[in-house]
Amino acid sequence: MEIIAKGAEATIYKTKLFNKEVCIKERNSKKYRHPVLDTKILKTRNKEEAFLLKKIKEIGLFSPYIYSVSNNKIIMEYIKNSKKHKDKLEEIGIEIAKLHNNNIIHGDLNLINILTNNNKVYFIDFGLGYVSLKIEDKATDLLVFKKTLLALKRTEKLWVGIKEGYLKGTNNKNIIKHIENIEKRGRYL
Ligand SMILES: Nc1ncnc2c1ncn2[C@@H]1O[C@H](COP(=O)(O)OP(=O)(O)O)[C@@H](O)[C@H]1O
Ligand SMILES: [Mg+2]
Repeated sequence: MEIIAKGAEATIYKTKLFNKEVCIKERNSKKYRHPVLDTKILKTRNKEEAFLLKKIKEIGLFSPYIYSVSNNKIIMEYIKNSKKHKDKLEEIGIEIAKLHNNNIIHGDLNLINILTNNNKVYFIDFGLGYVSLKIEDKATDLLVFKKTLLALKRTEKLWVGIKEGYLKGTNNKNIIKHIENIEKRGRYL
């Protein structure tokens, strides 16, 4: 099995099962946690992530197909990433708006948690995802993304593309306005 990514939370492997390329996301144990608690946390996060990956398919968005879920592993479809994100900013913005229209908060939006392939935009990594109706949570989700984009390019260009797409797709334009409120609050803290 080939390791394609290794983070603090998980190791991602690529392999073949029944002649299909698959991805295995295996959550890592934390030595500093009590083993019983550790097993419980991994299981809960794994289940929640799998739930959201499946859920977003039900609302017509794209995520890898899930083959199986165990206590600490998700076996899913391998998505070949075209890495053409810069040409797809508006589409990505529209897709994030659809997530939020359905009250799903990604929790860790950044370009490496979004894969593009065959003109489709796939969301992955819902380890910090949750369901919420709150404008505050949706705006914070976008602000996290905005900050990663500014850190990447030091210009507003990428963010402006995402924002334009979001405004086209959203059922509540106040969410974008609310980002500024959060930013202002942060400045005076
Ligand atoms: N289904 C998949 N298909 C292709 N690549 C994937 C898939 N899942 C994860 N990856 C790759 O592995 C990386 C890490 O996976 P991710 O779920 O984001 O784990 P982490 O929680 O460690 O960030 C992703 O940025 C992506 O490059
Ligand atoms: Mg990730």
